[in-house]
Amino acid sequence: MEYDAPMARPDPHSVTDDAQPRTRHLEWDARVDFGSKTLTATATLHFHAAAPVAGPLDLDTRGLTISRVTDLSGATLSFELGKEDPILGAPLRVNLPAGTTGVKLEYRTASDASALQWLEPAQTHGGKQPYLFSQCQAIHARSLVPCQDTPARRISYRASLDVPQGLVAVMGAAPRTSSTTTARTTFHFEMPQVIPPYLLAFAVGDLASKDLSPRSRVWSEPGLLDAAAWEFADVERHLAAAESLFGEYDWERFDLLVMPPSFPYGGMENPRLTFLTPTLLAGDRSMVNVVAHELAHSWTGNLVTNVNAEHFWLNEGFTVFAERRILEVLEGQEVAELHAALGRNDVDDAIARFTRAGTPELTCLRTKLEGIDPDEAFSVVPYEKGYLLLRALEGAAGRTRFDELLQSWLQAHRFGAVTTDDFLAHFEQHAPGLLAKVDALEWIDQPGIPANAPRAHSARLDALQKFKGQVPESSDASAWSPTEWQLYLEGSHGKLNADQLATLDARFSLSKAKNTEVHVGWLLLALSCGVTSVVPQVEAFVGKFGRMKYLKPLFTALHARADTKAGAKALFEKNRERMHPIAKQVIAGLLAK
Ligand code: BES
Ligand code: ZN
Repeated sequence: MEYDAPMARPDPHSVTDDAQPRTRHLEWDARVDFGSKTLTATATLHFHAAAPVAGPLDLDTRGLTISRVTDLSGATLSFELGKEDPILGAPLRVNLPAGTTGVKLEYRTASDASALQWLEPAQTHGGKQPYLFSQCQAIHARSLVPCQDTPARRISYRASLDVPQGLVAVMGAAPRTSSTTTARTTFHFEMPQVIPPYLLAFAVGDLASKDLSPRSRVWSEPGLLDAAAWEFADVERHLAAAESLFGEYDWERFDLLVMPPSFPYGGMENPRLTFLTPTLLAGDRSMVNVVAHELAHSWTGNLVTNVNAEHFWLNEGFTVFAERRILEVLEGQEVAELHAALGRNDVDDAIARFTRAGTPELTCLRTKLEGIDPDEAFSVVPYEKGYLLLRALEGAAGRTRFDELLQSWLQAHRFGAVTTDDFLAHFEQHAPGLLAKVDALEWIDQPGIPANAPRAHSARLDALQKFKGQVPESSDASAWSPTEWQLYLEGSHGKLNADQLATLDARFSLSKAKNTEVHVGWLLLALSCGVTSVVPQVEAFVGKFGRMKYLKPLFTALHARADTKAGAKALFEKNRERMHPIAKQVIAGLLAK
């Protein structure tokens, strides 16, 4: 039953083949075993249409042990599991007879599945129960479920998670009934909207929830719940602002889950249940732009999805643009501009790094990622350069016209997957000549930031300039927001001596800042000025939080200095067992350079 299908792959990070049947629905039943750190599961993939002829079905897997494959009537199907590729995992080929409408796979996940982190009770807030969570973006869903692991294939799903009694399971899906026996509880879920596999998401732990609005509640460990509910109390205002800008919210609920400290991202836009780092619990609602960002993905990313990681800017650049529009509604133009200024600093730094590393091509918006791990290619470039291109287009078209374009783009590709060519075609068709006006192709296919990039403007931004490399008086900075502090701290890199830093800290207690952006900003400033007395504080922070946005620059700064290089390696070794698998790999790669 072998035949050589013409290879047509929509995604360089997936074996998915356009000539083969398309998965459109998944039934997934998994038993969670904390002892062996494995899931024992069955996955049933239902096809869009019956396979017209006999032939292969290629699926992505990573570290899976497949015990049996059948068709939907239970008849055994033959399969071969290929060799593990370090980036892509192992291709699984199932041989389908003509007319097959789906396949059922029985399997077990690896104890080091890249999508999962298994936490000991000591790594949680409560300290009593273990915790497990998934993170599938970009290409980790395959370590949980054998699937066509590409955003080019959307699926609906139904799932059940069988967990030890006393633990609660949540998913980025609608909860259905649960049933309990003496030792175990089974939680049922249903996801009616079609999603790309990277949005499959769940968590298991000692979880409780509190309502924030009729369509939003926050989940966390019980001990953090009040703080979480306070920090995110404004979520309904975010939803209302976003709906006024981008159209009706399509996912029914917008719930939040505050993750354990090792969560490697600031947030993850899992549908119906955004995952958030606990570093957002600053006690002053100063980091809710991350909530605005993940909410914005409900339109830009989850509704209209990049077809693969080479077009990641269509997810993140659009989302940063949408995030700052929401922020503008909620907090005013000045605040949005300050965030844009921070973003500009970050992207300039990132571009300088890629250029030094000899990979300037990774600073194009449209990238070529064949053979490159998306986790390694990840940077702020698609976020902030993408944002700037959209700002340039908004400036050239005028806001009203640009808003119409944005809405028509979202409307045209709802629940679809898009390429950069789709973007170019849509904008050219609906606003002829606009792309040429801003030289969009230079933005898209050339490295760096074009000279015509828009610049952030704000009086508060101008007022900060004169303090760069100076120590402000208490009266100068008493009203600075955390964002202004970040701008000041970044702007002073390498410009202060040890005495000045001591005065600065004595005046403003930056080393004790509860806002982690400010705290980490302070640590990075001190390291940039050669003040290594902060190293114990760096070690304490790295021992606590796993957010890669902080780990990467902190480890890079330590690794870059002769007198802290060995310490950076030792710090990594000390923490690696407790680190998230993605963070572990990224930091190991950084220290090997
Ligand atoms: N979807 C991303 C996180 C992500 C990207 C995970 C790629 C895995 C692979 C999320 O929406 C995000 O961008 N988070 C940011 C938030 C920020 C830009 C406000 C983060 O984690 O810092
Ligand atoms: Zn994002």
